[in-house]
Amino acid sequence: MRVLSGIQPTGRFHWGNYFGAIRQYIELQDEAEDAFYFIANLHALTTVRNPEELWQWTWDAAIDLVALGLDPDRATLFVQSDVPEVSELSWLLMTGTPMGLLERCHAYKDKQARGLSADAGLFTYPVLMAADILAYDSDTVPVGEDQGQHIEVCRDLAASFNHHFGETFVMPKAKIIDTSARVPGIDGEKMSKSYNNTLDVFEDPKVLGKQIMRIKTDSRPMDQPKDPETDHLFQLYWLFADDAQREEMATTYRRGGFGYGEVKKALAGLAVRFFDEARQRRRELESQPERIRQILGDGAAQARKKAAEVLLRAQRVCGVKG
Ligand code: ADP
Ligand code: TRP
Repeated sequence: MRVLSGIQPTGRFHWGNYFGAIRQYIELQDEAEDAFYFIANLHALTTVRNPEELWQWTWDAAIDLVALGLDPDRATLFVQSDVPEVSELSWLLMTGTPMGLLERCHAYKDKQARGLSADAGLFTYPVLMAADILAYDSDTVPVGEDQGQHIEVCRDLAASFNHHFGETFVMPKAKIIDTSARVPGIDGEKMSKSYNNTLDVFEDPKVLGKQIMRIKTDSRPMDQPKDPETDHLFQLYWLFADDAQREEMATTYRRGGFGYGEVKKALAGLAVRFFDEARQRRRELESQPERIRQILGDGAAQARKKAAEVLLRAQRVCGVKG
């Protein structure tokens, strides 16, 4: 299995990113024969237009991923733009991409529907993503449900290139991360930077405690029994709790006679403990910028080696290289 995935540096990582994506990427590094993970800064450029922020979030993403357990000895970690071969490959793919295929993609379609003007970067975003995947002969792409359509586009483009020019690309498959892991934000909607409802993985514990206290809850009287299955505070608690704690909390909900404040305190305690080790590792890494530069430099060199090989293969079959 050759695994590849990317994550955009569009802000600091929140619990949704961790439980819905990062944790599974990291777990796969042990099963895969090869694992490539990159920070998709070129994709992020379609939304982040502040250079200091883009740079800082890219750097933070690298530190965060290593602190959370991505092991540079077992997986290749790099920054997308450090592999220029991918952008070249993206052009080769673009020349065979039907407009209609991209017009159906949701990121672009949603923007159009809201009457906003979209740029060519957003429109061709799925083609760059296809190049990201095909450049490393990856066969397994772990992604959240929202990215499934992009993997389908990638498969379409690979199939049509292979059909036209002969077998060139490995056909990748999405490994869609369990949708039950959809993490709610403090307002009960899906946790997302765009909804301003996030709880961040590396938030200062004191600040986090305050944010957790602001999680929206219903105003039913304390003595009334509540259904844990439909309660987003319980869903958040569930993420961090072990089986016994989950069971006990569910029983408390069903019995009633408790305050949400107690659940929030318990959640804050568990969440802080859960990320404690990673927070400690993050502090150490933060004081070793050389080490991070080295990890990203080695990762880019390894990734470029593979991408150059695939690019040359594609260039040869389509006649731009002899
Ligand atoms: P955001 O919505 O905050 O901008 P991204 O779109 O950058 O987050 O998410 C990156 C990855 O994290 C995606 O693969 C996505 O599926 C996953 N993810 C984001 N938010 C959640 C969530 N609330 N629950 C589960 N997974 C999530
Ligand atoms: N578009 C993905 C996201 O927003 C990030 C990404 C870019 C990616 N290139 C990729 C994911 C290639 C998997 C494979 O989450």
